Amino acid sequence: MALEYRPWREGDDQELLQIWGDPEGSQNAWYRQTLEPSNDGGVQLDGSRRNWKRCIVATDQGIPVAAGVVMEQSLHSARLTAYVEVAKDHRRQGVGATLLTMLRHEAEQAPSGVRELTTKVDQGTSGAAFAEALGWSVIQASRLIQVEPASLSLPRFPKREDQADEDAGADLVQDLATGSVELTDVVGRWYESVHRDWSPTGPLSPGMVQSYFLADATGAQGAIVLRAEPESAFGGSVAPSRKGRIRAFAVSYGPHPAAAPSNDPPADVLLGWEAGLSAEDAAAAVRDLVALVAYQHPVVLEVDSSMAALTGLVDPLIAAGKARQLGASTLIVAG
Ligand SMILES: CC(C)(COP(=O)(O)OP(=O)(O)OC[C@H]1O[C@@H](n2cnc3c(N)ncnc32)[C@H](O)[C@@H]1OP(=O)(O)O)[C@@H](O)C(=O)NCCC(=O)NCCS
Repeated sequence: MALEYRPWREGDDQELLQIWGDPEGSQNAWYRQTLEPSNDGGVQLDGSRRNWKRCIVATDQGIPVAAGVVMEQSLHSARLTAYVEVAKDHRRQGVGATLLTMLRHEAEQAPSGVRELTTKVDQGTSGAAFAEALGWSVIQASRLIQVEPASLSLPRFPKREDQADEDAGADLVQDLATGSVELTDVVGRWYESVHRDWSPTGPLSPGMVQSYFLADATGAQGAIVLRAEPESAFGGSVAPSRKGRIRAFAVSYGPHPAAAPSNDPPADVLLGWEAGLSAEDAAAAVRDLVALVAYQHPVVLEVDSSMAALTGLVDPLIAAGKARQLGASTLIVAG
């Protein structure tokens, strides 16, 4: 087998798709879309901004059989993202490792100066075995957890003196527009805090938070927040005029694509909390909000190991048969 290696060219995707067949998982499907001609990043002729990227193809007698990409990341800019895929009949012959060595060489030129690589692989796949063999370390594990309806009792909210029974909690649970400045702020600080220790983003601007999590283009359909009790600046005897601050939020993106077809498809929900809460308060807020959003319909939550308030809730639910993991865990590896 005499393979040749060259830069990616327009049209390679068509040929590779035929040889590769269907992607082995959602990670592979996503990374395939990033394969395209190399570019030097920065502002393009059409005014758009792009990240630096190098993409290499391996050909066997002129036919593309494998490809790899390395690129700078906008959100998690402390590492470069890399991906390699090899046609099944060309695997275990060192093609993947060769492509990765070439990508590392290319990465020496990344303008950011960042050199460490990262990628996502599903546990138990060829990609995970490859990463392990190359000595990459697992920096995070991420699971999709489906929580079944009514798995948690509804929270009991205290009733104010001037409230009817059915209005208890009305100030504490609120629908919020996804464009809300308050929501944007809490989502951004939460995302930054749960990634700080293993894949830092640095502070996120409101524009970034909107474009990654909340704008229409993300699929965000609506949000519910759980608030703290409002407090009056003038003490308990004066009715507070403002709402309490957000303790936890849930953003819905409609039916989750990874769930099995059903008459009651689970909603894909991004669930987080105010980054400044104590661990105990965050856990309580998350419990109450999951109880509310998953009261009548199932929901799917993406739970990273770093999200203590969520892992502490879903692990006992899984053990009790009230929640289950969809598919394999995704490992975020770096090397
Ligand atoms: C992962 C992948 C790119 C590996 O490509 P490859 O050309 O077979 O890799 P190599 O031959 O260079 O393998 C290097 C080492 O990785 C390990 N390895 C690779 N695939 C493995 C598998 N399926 N099972 C166990 N070990 C594996 C082995 O230790 C191997 O060395 P060896 O063959 O001497 O034992 C290929 O299986 C693939 O395309 N998978 C789907 C795409 C994907 O998941 N990519 C993620 C990686 S970034």
